[in-house]
Amino acid sequence: MNDQARNLRKMLHMASNTEKETNVIAVVSGKGGVGKSNFCLNFALELKKTGKEVILFDLDIGMANVDILMGTSAKHTIVDMIERELSIWDIIERGPDNLSFIAGGTGLSSMFQLNHRKFSRFLQQLELVNGNYDYIIFDMGAGVSKDSLHFILSANEVFVVTTPEPTSVTDAYAMIKYIQLKDQEIPISLLVNRADSSSEGKKTFENLNLVTHQFLQKEIRLLGIIPDDPSVLKAVKAQTPFVIHASESKPSKAIQEIVQQYTGEKREELTPPFTTFLNKFKKYFTDR
Ligand SMILES: Nc1ncnc2c1ncn2[C@@H]1O[C@H](COP(=O)(O)OP(=O)(O)OP(=O)(O)O)[C@@H](O)[C@H]1O
Ligand SMILES: [Mg+2]
Repeated sequence: MNDQARNLRKMLHMASNTEKETNVIAVVSGKGGVGKSNFCLNFALELKKTGKEVILFDLDIGMANVDILMGTSAKHTIVDMIERELSIWDIIERGPDNLSFIAGGTGLSSMFQLNHRKFSRFLQQLELVNGNYDYIIFDMGAGVSKDSLHFILSANEVFVVTTPEPTSVTDAYAMIKYIQLKDQEIPISLLVNRADSSSEGKKTFENLNLVTHQFLQKEIRLLGIIPDDPSVLKAVKAQTPFVIHASESKPSKAIQEIVQQYTGEKREELTPPFTTFLNKFKKYFTDR
């Protein structure tokens, strides 16, 4: 695409959406397979229903799969933007309910290996989305890598996903500890997925909050509890997000409640969230 066409597209894109404060949420877990991608996708869709502009960003490069969960195959990925110099607008795809998403790709070994020019271009492209979305949701892979850590620490807030299983909770604790050691200020919320009952979910949160409070002097918030329910696997098999495939199911109701509570909470921001995100992100990479 030539520069003129690109600028026009950018202007058209921005015309309807000015002055938004883009919030960046990183969704992480210690243990893999706990339901991050399903949560991100369904949360994004439900958040979008409230009139918010949302973009889901699959950052699990190498293991990316949000497009599979949506039954769409992405034409372009984040790797194309970096390697083939496409613009960010070229790689934004549309999923169910017209949800904007950026697919993670394979073949990018590490952001750390990007040369200065590629990295500044990556940042420049990222900067362009500011003001166009209310929320950017990063679906991170399980655990932390050098690269993902920078995205996590630059985000305005982190959602940690765990199941009530002791191994998953222990890994969630390790993840929180790791983040907390690097940044004490970043707000962390817990999503308990696959709970057998709401009391099991609450207990999982309370136990974890007790240890983070005691050993890390960190208070975490409860984002919500999603029950273990066969409708999730059915939706995955149907390659349709569960809030669409089974809108009356318990997990769908839980997502609705989470979005209601989340959007109802008052957040006081001192600096524009996206500026904070970009500044931190730049700093981590220039310090590398
Ligand atoms: N609430 C739930 N009830 C029942 N099964 C669930 C629930 N949430 C997730 N699952 C099951 O867990 C599987 C993995 O979910 P998902 O791919 O979202 O996890 P993930 O944390 O993104 O995994 P990875 O770490 O590999 O990225 C789903 O395919 C589904 O079978
Ligand atoms: Mg995933």
